[in-house]
Amino acid sequence: MFPHPYTEADAEHWIRIANEEGRSLHLAIEFKGAAAGGVGAIAGEGIAAATADFGYWLGEPFWGQGIATAAASALVGRLMREQRFSRLQAPVFAWNPASMRVLEKVGFVREGVLRSSVTKDAALINSVMYAYTAA
Ligand SMILES: CC(C)(COP(=O)(O)OP(=O)(O)OC[C@H]1O[C@@H](n2cnc3c(N)ncnc32)[C@H](O)[C@@H]1OP(=O)(O)O)[C@@H](O)C(=O)NCCC(=O)NCCS
Repeated sequence: MFPHPYTEADAEHWIRIANEEGRSLHLAIEFKGAAAGGVGAIAGEGIAAATADFGYWLGEPFWGQGIATAAASALVGRLMREQRFSRLQAPVFAWNPASMRVLEKVGFVREGVLRSSVTKDAALINSVMYAYTAA
């Protein structure tokens, strides 16, 4: 869901979506006054209404300083306090151990491997489902 290449039109589209009223939440990650990345939760619909897809990204200069963990932890805390969702889920590309570590550090549990679930750079790869549940 992260366009590549990322155009100015993509940025404007994202800012419009982030400012819409609704159960989803899209926040910027600010570090020492600079925009460092984003973190958010996209609300499910119908029978999946209690579930949100949880995600985050950081600009490369900000990697490896604990920022994603701090941002993810803050958003999980807020969503749980507000009782917005019962389940937060995050499918992670199988080659992204840093992201899996972030999720584990904020209390997500590894649920399983979704085989051949994602097409990335023209290759079919596995993803790993992580989830945080309120109860
Ligand atoms: C994944 C990403 C969010 C991590 O952000 P970050 O701020 O560097 O993460 P943190 O510093 O909070 O924590 C990273 C953890 O992963 C660990 N880690 C980093 N590289 C690793 C690797 N190759 N293998 C195993 N663990 C690794 C770090 O040691 C750290 O764990 P620790 O605190 O126990 O030592 C960031 O690299 C990013 O935005 N990547 C591009 C977008 C992306 O992948 N988003 C997630 C999609 S699911």
